[in-house]
Amino acid sequence: MAKQNMPAAKTKPAKAASAKANSGKATAVKADAAKAAAKPETVTFIDNRTGKRFDYPIIKGTVGPDVVDIRKFYGDTGMFTYDPGYGSTGSCSSSITYIDGDVGILEYRGYPIEQLAEHSHFLEVAYLLLSGELPTAKELREFEDSITHHTMLQEQIHFFFRGFRRDSHPMALMVAAVGSLAAFYHDYLDFHDPKDRMIASHRLISKIPTIAAWAYKYSQGQPFMYPRNDLDYAGNFLHMTFATPCETYKVNPVLARALDRLFILHADHEQNASTSTVRLAGSSGANPFACISAGIASLWGPAHGGANEAVLDMLTQIGDRNRIPEFIKRAKDKNDPFRLMGFGHRVYKNYDPRAKIIQRSCHDVLDELGIRKEPLLDLAMELERIALEDDYFVEHKLYPNVDFYSGIIYKAMGFPNSMFTAMFAIARTVGWIAQWAEMMVDSESRIGRPRQRFIGATRRNYVPISRRKAK
Ligand code: CMC
Repeated sequence: MAKQNMPAAKTKPAKAASAKANSGKATAVKADAAKAAAKPETVTFIDNRTGKRFDYPIIKGTVGPDVVDIRKFYGDTGMFTYDPGYGSTGSCSSSITYIDGDVGILEYRGYPIEQLAEHSHFLEVAYLLLSGELPTAKELREFEDSITHHTMLQEQIHFFFRGFRRDSHPMALMVAAVGSLAAFYHDYLDFHDPKDRMIASHRLISKIPTIAAWAYKYSQGQPFMYPRNDLDYAGNFLHMTFATPCETYKVNPVLARALDRLFILHADHEQNASTSTVRLAGSSGANPFACISAGIASLWGPAHGGANEAVLDMLTQIGDRNRIPEFIKRAKDKNDPFRLMGFGHRVYKNYDPRAKIIQRSCHDVLDELGIRKEPLLDLAMELERIALEDDYFVEHKLYPNVDFYSGIIYKAMGFPNSMFTAMFAIARTVGWIAQWAEMMVDSESRIGRPRQRFIGATRRNYVPISRRKAK
């Protein structure tokens, strides 16, 4: 200390001392860095009953939270981890979609969803999700050509549809018809061959809009409309849904663009319930058409893709802005099963970036259709405003999700509520099949087999029927 306080004339030794001190600091910093570098990249679990310690490696992704590799946990400890709903469990490595739910980021293969929604179109995004890269002009042309030329369904599928009641829910038809593709297209079934995987992917992406449109036509008692190769993906779907053989149907380009954008927004969303279902089904080596059918079944539920239909039902039920507080109160009441549909998300604890884009699209579509006043949109916006100011929704970080506004657009376009989830399924088929294909080549993937905590009866002896007592 005294040396450091010496007069300026004698600064040399002071400098030397400080240089020494600095070099000492630098050595300490280096040592710290070396120590830190030497620190094991592991997490230690301690069984407090026995004091035994178990180390597990931390593995990293390119971005996002680190992951603890607990594959050896059961073998080491004889215990399972318990995580109903998989809130803390990663089931695979994936390079397709990245979400940061805290800040509301969604990226497909690294590209922000906002940029794709603005500049790209659905089939280009489909190519990106499947292959990992944006296509060149030639690659895109060939891909679009392949999808466009496989949109027809095997003619026999007509009869399959006819076995259903006319009032069947389109999702029931979708589950069945997509599963039935396994029976209609059973060539090229070596899914370890990239060519066969590609054929299955193209068949699914090209045929799913035809199946969804026909599910609608069937419910209306109208003739099925065949696909038209001069139309783009969304335009063709609008044609197959709304055209009839009696008159020429002109696709409205604004509506086709809005629908295409909705398809982009719904194309993938990493390991959600339906995608995990597809992977789990596929992990046994099952037929991909059957796996996608399983994904559609999972999507159908109101907590997942069925929410868009449920939102419109809810808005209709609320009916008037004066009744909003009553429904907000119900949504907060733990004894009432009612939830605000289209609100909340397992991953997004911020505004769902897709909801923002959809809200803007909603106005474009209503303007194009000359709908100056859509009471359900007014109601939805008022509901959003009130919910976002409410302490419960703020504290629980509940924001509108992708399904909050999509139904209003679909309704304005003329789709009945029952078709909303079917349209989600059209778009998500791309994500499902990309995830399935990724799993098929992942050397670390194994048949999915979660474990359980058993809470049932312990071993007991069989009781003959004559000795059983009524409860
Ligand atoms: N209304 C009222 N309370 C809610 C809601 C809601 N919509 N969503 C979550 N909460 C509450 C929930 O009661 C719980 O409160 P507490 O901690 O006090 O018990 C807390 O928020 C966390 O909820 P959670 O059920 O543990 O959250 P989760 O991650 O398991 O569920 C969700 C996510 C999307 C299923 C749920 O938010 C929900 O049911 N939302 C309505 C349905 C919906 O809009 N689904 C579409 C999701 S986006 C499209 C898709 O990708 O499928």
